[in-house]
Amino acid sequence: MNQSNTSFLADFRSMSSIGATAGGGVDRQAATMADGQTRNWFRGLVEGHGFTVRYDQIGNQYSMLELVPGAPWIAVGSHLDSQPLGGRFDGAYGVLAGAHAAQRIQDSFAVAKDSAVFNIVVINWFNEEGCRFKPSMMGSSVYTGKIPASQALDTTDPDGVTVREALEGIGTIGDFELPVSAYIEIHIEQGRSLEDRGLGIGLVESTWGANKYEFIVHGDQAHTGATIIADRQDALLGASALVVAAREIALEYSTDEHMVITSCGEFNVFPNSPVVVASRVNLLVDVRSTDPDVLAAADAALHTRVSQIEKMANVRIERGAEHVWDAKSYDLAGLKLAAEAADSLGLSHGVVRTLAGHDSTNMKDVVPTIMLFVPSVEGISHNERELTHDADMVAGVDLLTEVLTRVVRGEFVSDSATTNRASTDSVSVSR
Ligand code: GLV
Ligand code: MN
Ligand code: MN
Repeated sequence: MNQSNTSFLADFRSMSSIGATAGGGVDRQAATMADGQTRNWFRGLVEGHGFTVRYDQIGNQYSMLELVPGAPWIAVGSHLDSQPLGGRFDGAYGVLAGAHAAQRIQDSFAVAKDSAVFNIVVINWFNEEGCRFKPSMMGSSVYTGKIPASQALDTTDPDGVTVREALEGIGTIGDFELPVSAYIEIHIEQGRSLEDRGLGIGLVESTWGANKYEFIVHGDQAHTGATIIADRQDALLGASALVVAAREIALEYSTDEHMVITSCGEFNVFPNSPVVVASRVNLLVDVRSTDPDVLAAADAALHTRVSQIEKMANVRIERGAEHVWDAKSYDLAGLKLAAEAADSLGLSHGVVRTLAGHDSTNMKDVVPTIMLFVPSVEGISHNERELTHDADMVAGVDLLTEVLTRVVRGEFVSDSATTNRASTDSVSVSR
């Protein structure tokens, strides 16, 4: 292993010690102390290599490396925040890989006096995970104009702390602004298609569509023993039926060609006491598919089931915040550039789609974007056991360096059919 790969892996291990959990993962939810420590660690690392670091109004962290004074900027990035008891690779790998790729390019351009026409900014997007503060992909949603900064800043966590207060608390908020000309992200796959196909690199051609809903099931608080069944308005029964309905819809609407994936990831019962029929449950349900028509049919079925469950459980189900994005392509010219770069390095690669949302889901709607994956062992993610082998990580950094080098030289001539779209046409977020 060469010196640059050894240095990447050493930095990765140092970074993974921040917010480390007993089970081998990390817990660095957005704007917590652990997230702040990771941001400061990253700042120290890149400043040591001559980057300049700034924060914007929603706490996105920009680490800039100016190769050509006054030239426009190419962004490379991902996120340093994590899920509770999350894995150490999700997001953080891509941010660190971006810094190392930029650094290598600076060194090689200095030696070869090569012709860069762009500068490089590594962006650590604020709150990609959306666990402490909803929705996910918050920093890139504000950057791309999909949600107003004021709405994001006023969002509260379960303890009533706002995003603004939390970001001020860790001292990573500012007023910096930086337009970029293109965006590149590398991330772990979080699924097992690369591993199953024996491939080292995934070239992401499109996102799956996703419809995420908050439902609030309203019942009436009562005594679990003394209240006869006929008199109950049990919010927990209604919410549980909705969880089961979501799974049934996934099974019913998936076709051989287009899978449907549904989940309930968060479920809060009030007052959650042993002898009390629940008065309210807040839950989050998401429905995803590769095909817009299949997604629309599954989505309609979900809302029909909601009405049926209201009658069955004698409850009222309110729809709260929603966060929606379409199944949509990445830039085809970017895909081709990345495939050629992978070939030049002798890396095996294949085309994949992303089931998970990423900051590139937002960025691809406003600038030409390239999204790359490295394999996840057994597809395990959002789990302390998340793992990507060292050899796969360093191959990814090599590829990112090669792709970024080509882009910085001006070789990414966007495919016009998939770029310059309106910023709001594919992802919407509302509360
Ligand atoms: C990310 O936000 C996801 O839901 O996949
Ligand atoms: Mn991620
Ligand atoms: Mn994640």
